[in-house]
This record gives sequence, structure tokens and C-alpha cells, in this order.
Amino acid sequence: MRHVDLPRPDPSVHGVGREYRGLAGKLQFRVLQRCGLEPDLHMLEIGCGIGRLVFELAPFLDRGSYVGFDISPEAIAWLNEHYAPRLPNFRFDVLDIYNARYNRDNTGSAQTVRWPYEDDAFEFACAFSVFTHMRLPEVAHYLTELRRVLRPGRRAVVTFALITDRDRPPYVHAGKPLVQIDDVSYTRRVERPERGIAYREAAVRATVEQAGLTIVEVIDGSWHGWNSSKPRVVNDAVVVTS
Ligand SMILES: C[S@@+](CC[C@H](N)C(=O)[O-])C[C@H]1O[C@@H](n2cnc3c(N)ncnc32)[C@H](O)[C@@H]1O
Repeated sequence: MRHVDLPRPDPSVHGVGREYRGLAGKLQFRVLQRCGLEPDLHMLEIGCGIGRLVFELAPFLDRGSYVGFDISPEAIAWLNEHYAPRLPNFRFDVLDIYNARYNRDNTGSAQTVRWPYEDDAFEFACAFSVFTHMRLPEVAHYLTELRRVLRPGRRAVVTFALITDRDRPPYVHAGKPLVQIDDVSYTRRVERPERGIAYREAAVRATVEQAGLTIVEVIDGSWHGWNSSKPRVVNDAVVVTS
């Protein structure tokens, strides 16, 4: 572990949601460690936001490297100003992609974008609370891109709010009731579903498989209200391999 002196992520830069008592990044980091993240891996973070995970990763990932991307120019500018100069093995990229919740000025499509990374570029990847703000065809394309950039046999952790066979209606996520909008999708805001989308687990499993990825494990998120002794985050962490 190296010592790095970083300012804390600044929530005023880009609204990434509740901070969970300052624990969001710590919990994410714990889940990644349990899923096999090592200090010498080359990793990708999809939707890195304001760097909550980066703040926790920076001392740990001393021999590997990190690339994070997001669709918020403000968040990436902040990371490039405050973190990149102190972390030579970390890089932050902005992608021009529209999202009804997070960036309505962008014009690119999450359903067709090619991420600016080579095939097999990464040995580990993650996306925390990103697919909960994307429609299923967009998620399907992102999983195909993930498959392309993740080296064969390597792992990624991607979170969803999964409606499972154990859940019973009415479904409630983060204190808000979920309304069904199609066969497999539920949202907290019908007029703007990207505020928060939950998917039926079977639909997510099928989408992951269609992208050529294999599910290794699903770590239940705390949002279901079930007891667990495993490290976990609010949403369900789907661990996949390429
Ligand atoms: C709930 S925030 C989570 C941010 C970060 N993962 C964290 O936990 O702090 C969702 C993030 O996804 C980003 N985002 C939304 N659509 C995206 C897309 N198509 N590609 C990459 N990032 C996206 C948003 O800008 C936002 O930073």
C-alpha cells in the first residue's frame, strides 16, 4: 500500500446519489477485493462519477493501473485536476453519451458507442449504480463492449437492482415504490425511468449471456432487506467473467 494524499470526492461537482454515510466507495472497494481485485491489475471503471471508488483504490492499486470513464465532463474535469496529477497510473476519460438522468446535453448513444479502448485491454472491470440508470438495450450494448475490452477469463463486477423470485410486490427501492413499465423493467419515476431502473433477474441473466459473458456469482444488495454477512453494496453485484 502506498500513501497518497487526495481530497475527498466532491458531491457538488456531479450528483451521484446518496452517500450512505460516506461509505459508498469503501463498500464498493470491499466487494471488489472479495471478487479478486489485486494491486497489480489493469482495471476499468464504467461510470466512475466523482471518484468515490478511486479515493479508496488509490493507495491499494499501486502496481496496476486504472481507467475510469463517465459521461459528466464536470466530474472528469475534477478528477483530472485533483486526482490525475497525484496518481500517474490512473486515467479519467469523458464520453459524449446522452442520459436522461445524468447528461441531457450530450448527443452520443449508449446503444452504439464504441468505448475508446483496445480489445482485451483490461484484467478487471466494474460498474457501480450505472446500469440502474440505463435502459436494457443500452445495458446490452455496454455488456458487449465489456466483453470486448475484458481479457478472456477475467472478471467484472456490475451492479443492478434485480427483481428476483424471492422479492414480493410491492417492490420498493431506496424508499421509493417501483412501477412496472414493461415486461422486465420497473422504475421509481415513470416520466423519467433513468432516475432508477430495476430489472427482472431473468432478463439480466439472459442479457449477460447474450453478450458472451458468464455469471460467476450474484451478491445480493442490501436494498432487498435480507440479512447477509458478505461485503455488499446497496444494489445487487453481478460478478461476470469473459
Ligand atoms: C449513481 S452514479 C454512480 C457513480 C459511481 N459509480 C459511484 O458509485 O460513485 C451513476 C453514474 O453513471 C454515469 N453514467 C450514466 N450513464 C452513463 C453511461 N452511458 N456511460 C458511463 N457512465 C454513465 C453518471 O454520469 C453517474 O456518474
